[in-house]
Amino acid sequence: MNDVATAARMPEVRSDTWKQAKVRPRRLGHATFETPDLDKAVDYYTQVVGLVVASRDKDRAFLASRIGQLIVQLERGDAPACAKLSFEVAPDSDFNELARHLSAEGVQSEQRSDSVPGIAKVLAFKDPKGTTIELFSQWSYLGKHHQVLGVGPLKLGHVAFLVHDPQKIADFYGRVLGFRVSDWIEDYFVFMRCGPDHHSVNFLQGKSQKLHHFAMELKDMAHMQASCELFANRKIPIIWGPLRHGPGHNVATYHRNQDDQVLELFFELDLMKDEDLGYFEPRPWHHDTPQRPKVWPRNGTTVWGPPPLPDFLRARD
Ligand SMILES: [Fe+2]
Repeated sequence: MNDVATAARMPEVRSDTWKQAKVRPRRLGHATFETPDLDKAVDYYTQVVGLVVASRDKDRAFLASRIGQLIVQLERGDAPACAKLSFEVAPDSDFNELARHLSAEGVQSEQRSDSVPGIAKVLAFKDPKGTTIELFSQWSYLGKHHQVLGVGPLKLGHVAFLVHDPQKIADFYGRVLGFRVSDWIEDYFVFMRCGPDHHSVNFLQGKSQKLHHFAMELKDMAHMQASCELFANRKIPIIWGPLRHGPGHNVATYHRNQDDQVLELFFELDLMKDEDLGYFEPRPWHHDTPQRPKVWPRNGTTVWGPPPLPDFLRARD
């Protein structure tokens, strides 16, 4: 393909439209998963992932990290799905005002109270692919310094979805919610940030619209090694990695959970510490100097590590 043809379909990576957004999530909070087997899911998230049950009833469970941040909400459902994501907005946010801004973009929202432990109030709406987004501004820790049995991640890092049209969803997250494009892989996979982390959401072109994978952050390589030993002990196969990615440059492993969903564990994700500087905090493993948002080629971007196994690749089916 010649340069003109390539350039013609290159997605935009350095747009300033996000600066116009009046609704601006700053941090990914927690993800809500529907599951047909709540007991099995609670077992996995406590014994393998190393989260703590903060509260539980017949149809729901809320799981916190060992430092007491809510990471995962489980709800009994017919089939495994990621139904909701929560994001923190600025502490002085006026939810009536945010609702008006969303409405001006054709997005209907509603305020809900006391639906989530530690979060008094959320403003809920659906994104264009049907995922419920819950914005919150005030929250409290659910206990602290818990002893955990499994891996014990630091936080929920990002959630990746298969979507029919990544450009359309990226436009919505940029224009309406102020997300910035951190990278594209060709025109089929976009990584977006709402804070310093290289990505909190990513959207991958697919035939269906559903969860592709979700990711939790670990502290360092020693923490990742301990997680690999635990997977070996529990006979949970690692289906990709350990590897260092190109886009985001995170070191990562992937495995499948009790509902056959792909969970990534990662550390050393690229950070955009200053939006005005426009480059990621320089690191020795970067491809470019400095490393700025860009469009990557489809193949050959991995810095080191093995290719994915078929059990990872079927996540795109
Ligand atoms: Fe990921």
